[in-house]
Amino acid sequence: MAYSAPRGTVDILPEKSGKWIKLEQLLRTISANYNVKEMRTPIFEHAELFNRAVGDTTDVVSKEMYTFADKKGRMLSLRPEGTAGIARAYVENKMYGLPEKLQKVYYMGPMFRYERPQNGRQRQFHQYGVEMLGVESPYVDVECMLMAVTVVEALGIKNVTLHINSLGDDQSRDAYRQALKDHFAPVLDQLCSDCKARFDKNPLRILDCKVDAKNPAMQSAPKTIDYLSDHAKAHFDKVCSLLDDLEIDYVVDTNLVRGLDYYSHTVFEIISDDPKLGAGATVGGGGRYNGLVEELGGPATPGVGFAFGMERLLLALDDDQDDDEDGLDVYIMPLGSEAKDLAVQIIAMLRANGFTCDMDQCDRGLKGQFKSADRYHAHFSMIIGDEEVQKEVVNMKCNHSHTQDEVPLENIVAYIENHMSGGHEHE
Ligand code: HAM
Repeated sequence: MAYSAPRGTVDILPEKSGKWIKLEQLLRTISANYNVKEMRTPIFEHAELFNRAVGDTTDVVSKEMYTFADKKGRMLSLRPEGTAGIARAYVENKMYGLPEKLQKVYYMGPMFRYERPQNGRQRQFHQYGVEMLGVESPYVDVECMLMAVTVVEALGIKNVTLHINSLGDDQSRDAYRQALKDHFAPVLDQLCSDCKARFDKNPLRILDCKVDAKNPAMQSAPKTIDYLSDHAKAHFDKVCSLLDDLEIDYVVDTNLVRGLDYYSHTVFEIISDDPKLGAGATVGGGGRYNGLVEELGGPATPGVGFAFGMERLLLALDDDQDDDEDGLDVYIMPLGSEAKDLAVQIIAMLRANGFTCDMDQCDRGLKGQFKSADRYHAHFSMIIGDEEVQKEVVNMKCNHSHTQDEVPLENIVAYIENHMSGGHEHE
């Protein structure tokens, strides 16, 4: 029987992992730049955490979560997103008591949602996310948005727009909830059964409904922005004016409500119209969640954050950025068994000196070995035949300058260092 990977999952093969490593390195560099530290939380959590944090009327929790009982009957879920786990760990580890009031953390790793797979949408996918906990200030919202914009700019992703909106505070949300109920009540019998349930439990989620998306009542639904309290409005106005001052382009998108329940105040998405992602694809999104930590049993603590889908970032990257693969320093080409014994000694010595190298293990002739040196973009091909073994030398061919030298064994390291730091490599 042939096995295949489960639907919606993909293998990242060696030829692609270099791109992932580069992306991860860049994201780590940007994180360091913003003084954001890495935090790692479990890949599975108690299912109840997500019901509570993300909300049991959201699609993510009610339709897309991988939930199972462990051997003791505990209900666990593969994490569909990272914010809930970070907030849980923040409370559990009493991070609110740390001397630095503003805690800024990032994470990278797999997330799981049972969705219909398509380009840029998988059941196991990866997110890079950032959470900033402890300070309720529009300056922190803007730091998050600026960081998200920095990511897309650093990757050279074009055709993206920052969409922002405000959901307001509790007071605004109560007023908005009532307005939505007043709006949908007369047409409730036209809506699907899910929406009827949402009407009572969480009317905001009616706006995410895919079944009723075309219903005219959806288009004419009230907008959160019209129900903001004075405090919420002042917060949002300040966010907008800071973005203006920083000359960050954005559009106020009054339809943006996000699909997770924990948000309050600012919400945002970075949307690409790159055809590779399909129309209107969201590469990243986030917002403020001032009630979440308290909801999970911690002290009232504001928070704001965002997450990017890493597959989507890679899809949006230009294809021609694929090919700048780092080459090996040395590819060793032994011809015959004595040469191979010597090659084993040399390769161990070179690796101990920090060079990236490999050697032929298939006892091929020169032609085949040169092909490998080429495929690995080796800076040097080191040829060792019987004659070289006798003379205790190796033959170093520089694949950049096309020069060739006979180098005594004891001089190999000095020779490589000299040539790699010299002017040869870009000739
Ligand atoms: P989200 O909008 O649900 O937010 O997901 C963030 C990003 O993850 C999306 O914009 C998308 O790029 C990517 N993504 C989501 N689902 C999939 C999928 N099935 N396949 C591939 N990529 C996907 C959150 O998860 C929030 N936790 C973000 C956040 C952090 N808010 C505050 N802090």
